[in-house]
Amino acid sequence: GADVEVDISGIAPGQLIRVMWRSKPVWVVRRTPELLSSLEAHEDQLRDPNSENEQQPAFAQNRYRSLKDEYLVLVGICTHLGCSPQHLAEGAFAEYAEGVAEGFFCPCHGSKFDMAGRVFAGVPAPLNLVVPPYQYLDDNTLLIG
Ligand code: FES
Repeated sequence: GADVEVDISGIAPGQLIRVMWRSKPVWVVRRTPELLSSLEAHEDQLRDPNSENEQQPAFAQNRYRSLKDEYLVLVGICTHLGCSPQHLAEGAFAEYAEGVAEGFFCPCHGSKFDMAGRVFAGVPAPLNLVVPPYQYLDDNTLLIG
């Protein structure tokens, strides 16, 4: 079928893996406690920090945008014109958003997203990155779709 099972047991803290779902790239990121606690500090720089303007699962309408805080699941396609943003970690993102060490940067027209896929204000992308429908089949297995 079109749904995809993902084994998340091998994802290291801080790691991002890519899978394909319905011909789209989907990212699964295992977020560290430090990263999760950093998400609040830059919310004044975001366009829609609680995802009130998006079409997405209800569980994504909050700071973490995930079923389990630790695992972020996003469609890896920019909401502007569909390029694939780059994951910048270990301080590399601070060049694009002051004081934010990690995020996603779209090289096409400079849109910026945090590690919950929330778009920064003042960039072309109008919406947060899309959270696809998914569920946990067990502690180690996601079903996307
Ligand atoms: Fe990403 Fe335009 S496609 S900023």
